[in-house]
Amino acid sequence: MSTSTVIVGAQWGDEGKGKVTDVAAESFNAVARYSGGPNAGHTLSINGRIVVLHILPSALFRRDVLKLVGPGVVCDPEVLSGELRLAEELDVLHTVHLDLHAPLILPIHRELDKARESLSGKGAIGTTQRGIGPCYEDFVARRGPSLQNLRSAKALKQAMLDRRFYDERSLLVQLAGIKPSTVDEMVEWCMERAKKIVPALIDTREVISRLRERGDSLLFEGAQGIMLDVFNGTRPYCTSSICGPAAISASLGVHSFDRVIGVSKAYTTRVGNGPFPTELTGQAGQWLRKKGNEYGATTGRDRRTGWLDLPALRYACRIGGITDLVITKLDILTGIEKIRVAVAYGTPLEEVDPHRTLDTELLERVEPVYQDMDGWQEDLKGCSSIKNLPSNAKKYLWRIEEVTGIPITGVSIGPEREEMIWQESSPVN
Ligand code: GDP
Ligand code: IMO
Ligand code: MG
Repeated sequence: MSTSTVIVGAQWGDEGKGKVTDVAAESFNAVARYSGGPNAGHTLSINGRIVVLHILPSALFRRDVLKLVGPGVVCDPEVLSGELRLAEELDVLHTVHLDLHAPLILPIHRELDKARESLSGKGAIGTTQRGIGPCYEDFVARRGPSLQNLRSAKALKQAMLDRRFYDERSLLVQLAGIKPSTVDEMVEWCMERAKKIVPALIDTREVISRLRERGDSLLFEGAQGIMLDVFNGTRPYCTSSICGPAAISASLGVHSFDRVIGVSKAYTTRVGNGPFPTELTGQAGQWLRKKGNEYGATTGRDRRTGWLDLPALRYACRIGGITDLVITKLDILTGIEKIRVAVAYGTPLEEVDPHRTLDTELLERVEPVYQDMDGWQEDLKGCSSIKNLPSNAKKYLWRIEEVTGIPITGVSIGPEREEMIWQESSPVN
């Protein structure tokens, strides 16, 4: 029987989804990226080689695994053609397939994203400026080119003119005092990159339907995280797509999942603006940033850092339908004498009900209720099972399970593939 497993970010992104996907992919027939776009930066660390992928599935280095990019992923042809070149170098190009219907990010989307951010002053979202929001806006407005339009310059040009796409978009860019790219410039720019992309186009919904019928195992790789989800995240400080498994139902026609693996760091980070109740500012935050190497994989920006926020993680588990957790970067906490962890939220007037929706308004005024836990000094290198972890590290993991109500089935103790331990009962084991 075909099985479907999802890997989803359970915080504000950058949880280590790329690493976990690369490790888990070995046990699957196909891996599909299902949402987001080149705002994502998924890092793989394979025998010391570090590769950051933005669009292609993090199974790229797994030769025998089919790699799919679904119709919900917004694609920048420049980024895409670069990653296809890497696939060619690795001799896996024939295993990579991109959905025909995936929306195309154009220079004008990036221009608009940048212009809005620079004009928004204090209200800026802190986007990655990769054109993600404007591209999804056009998708929902039922206009704008998709990857299949790269097959012909004429069709591409027409898609840029249809339904006032270019007229309206260029006007907005001009209003921001920026000269928009012209239609002809964009067509030329896209067509220069199309040669690499067109041969990889396919209908991924049809492929997935066939794979399921023949009993293949499928792994779906998410981008961003539940707290950045356009419905359930900290709006407007979020991304423009659905980050959880609902995006797979909506775009790929798979509606039930054997497992939804939520990935969370052993602490919390966030890039861009928006509430962050457990944030560590000043020296402590900088120390954690440096120790955890918390610098954006896509933009190079400093990531904001803080203690693990269990009320937020519990909310993400509930909203995302998460069935088990993988905790990454546990090694970064080694050597800390007292580890703080937020186990509840309070406000000056009340304790926050665990069923509350954690919207921006609420998260901006909550005070985390912390528990201080004893840390561990032992190096985690060489730990081959959760059982063998230092006892204080195990107590930390148990506390996560207790507050979230979700079992931890995997723990990552370093960036490399091998630095990953699974609970013995885990099916990914
Ligand atoms: P993603 O966007 O969720 O795929 O995560 P990113 O790649 O943006 O950020 C995660 C970072 O942590 C990357 O630099 C990974 O190489 C690194 N990483 C992942 N797991 C671990 C771990 O267990 N320990 C350490 N030290 N680094 C890790
Ligand atoms: P991965 O997949 C962390 C954040 C941006 C900003 C907000 C909106 O690597 O975890 P956008 O460009 O999407 O309009 O920006 O979302 N953001 C991410 N933060 N990891 C990501 O992806 C992110 N993708 C977007 O920093 O706050
Ligand atoms: Mg990332």
